[in-house]
Amino acid sequence: MALLNILLFPDPRLRTKAVEVSTFDENLQTLVDDMLETMYEAPGIGLAATQVDKHIRLLVMDVSEDKNESRVLINPQILAVEGEEEMDEGCLSVPGYYESVTRADKIHVRAQDSRGNFFEFHADDLEAVCIQHEMDHLDGKLFVDYISSLKRDRIRKKLEKLKKQEQKG
Ligand code: NI
Repeated sequence: MALLNILLFPDPRLRTKAVEVSTFDENLQTLVDDMLETMYEAPGIGLAATQVDKHIRLLVMDVSEDKNESRVLINPQILAVEGEEEMDEGCLSVPGYYESVTRADKIHVRAQDSRGNFFEFHADDLEAVCIQHEMDHLDGKLFVDYISSLKRDRIRKKLEKLKKQEQKG
């Protein structure tokens, strides 16, 4: 297993639209394992392949308190949505910032596991929000796209400054 490098906003690679997974092999399983390790280490509750510069429709997550309920969603699709929920969101690609985003509160999801088997489930609350947030990544979208451009620009400038300081140091 290996820790993967997480791309940071405003890296343009975060804007890549991911392609469907069609090969369910050992390489895919290795990526899944590495992404889970990277997510737990960060620590975060979700990570999309886009964030580690792999542009395939794969995300991992764990919204449990004890961090022992990992979920792997490949080629996820939202079949139905219900209700609305406003929640403060953060993102491993936008470290240190939390902004309120409105999303569906209940969703019905269909996805494949790392062997290619299809499964369906209902998610609500934090899990539903997390899935929608991670699925946005697969389409090149970030949670800061939901806030005002003024606020987004401020975050971008601060993160760019931070990156320059890190490169100098
Ligand atoms: Ni994110």
